[in-house]
Amino acid sequence: MSAVQQQQFDASRAEAFGGRMVGIVNDASLALMISLGHRTGALEAMAGLDWASIDMIADASGLHARYVREWLGAMVTGGVVEFDPETQRYHLPAEHAAVITSHAGSHNLAVPMQFIPVMGSVETLLVDAFRHGGGVPYSEFERFHPVMADFSDQTVLAGLENSIIPAVPGLHERLQSGIDCVDIGCGSGHAAIRMAELYPNSRFTGYDFEERAVNAARELARSRGISNVSFEVRDVAAMDETERFDLVTAFDVIHDQADPAGVLANVRRMLRSGGVFLMQDIKACSHLHDNIDHMVGTFLYTVSTTHCMTVSLANGGAGLGTCWGRELAEQMIGEAGFSGLETKELAHDPFNYYYIMHV
Ligand SMILES: C[S@@+](CC[C@H](N)C(=O)[O-])C[C@H]1O[C@@H](n2cnc3c(N)ncnc32)[C@H](O)[C@@H]1O
Repeated sequence: MSAVQQQQFDASRAEAFGGRMVGIVNDASLALMISLGHRTGALEAMAGLDWASIDMIADASGLHARYVREWLGAMVTGGVVEFDPETQRYHLPAEHAAVITSHAGSHNLAVPMQFIPVMGSVETLLVDAFRHGGGVPYSEFERFHPVMADFSDQTVLAGLENSIIPAVPGLHERLQSGIDCVDIGCGSGHAAIRMAELYPNSRFTGYDFEERAVNAARELARSRGISNVSFEVRDVAAMDETERFDLVTAFDVIHDQADPAGVLANVRRMLRSGGVFLMQDIKACSHLHDNIDHMVGTFLYTVSTTHCMTVSLANGGAGLGTCWGRELAEQMIGEAGFSGLETKELAHDPFNYYYIMHV
């Protein structure tokens, strides 16, 4: 007899769970369609229309009507868009537009929805890694960097000036007077470029080991005509610089390192006396039982399995995972020899902690 057969079987529990699974098939499909609606501009177009026909929506978004019709089928059955069968017109309610279009400002939930197809895109490689070990490297994710940049525009850029920089006492004044800064794991460079724009007397560098991301960052800086920022393809695990910077930032970077302890030690070494390390990392606890009621716990462990943990394992790394958590982060920061650690929660960014520490 199997373990399942030996348990007392609660038929109503099985029925309820089956119902939930059916709902998940629908909701998971909807996540993909919301991502598509975001990327194609269909959602944005609908936010600008009243009750509209398929052709009106297709015209407004510049999309093929046949695709728009089928997409609308999912959006209507999924309860996102309203449909009037008599007039054959569709409508995105203002209350929904306020959550999944630009009307949501920096809380647009269609933006993180794009991670669902990004994560699904490496499923076959992940199955292989589950069976044989190792991991899926960054290079296998076709759209990770643009989606990440979109997401961190909401968590980092949106709060940089009024929330993140003011969270570090005296940093604004030091940046105004002119200091040397590096953003490690800078991705597409949006944060470094924005800081360079805000503080023309300071000098900014961005390091990332993905050439695609560095090229995008360089192109953006060039197109904006910003000259006090530069970007280098660098593995931050191999950084060997001593007392070169006054500020190091790492936005959502440390937990997916192959050698997180080594990177923290490198950061400490590259800071000048009085220097600051500002590390943004995922708001979670180090223990599963403390994350059970986490608002986006399932999402975080899924991102971890399909990206953050596996990219680290792909480099023979520690595989800390997205939910390495505050307890382990603070322990590793202490072990790296930083002092004066303050861990802050900032209102604009419900997804992350901000660890502020000194040399
Ligand atoms: C989760 S993304 C965050 C990107 C960016 N900081 C942001 O907030 O949008 C992590 C970034 O770190 C980079 N990265 C990871 N490990 C690295 C390493 N050892 N050296 C340099 N860059 C690394 C990745 O290429 C990726 O761009």
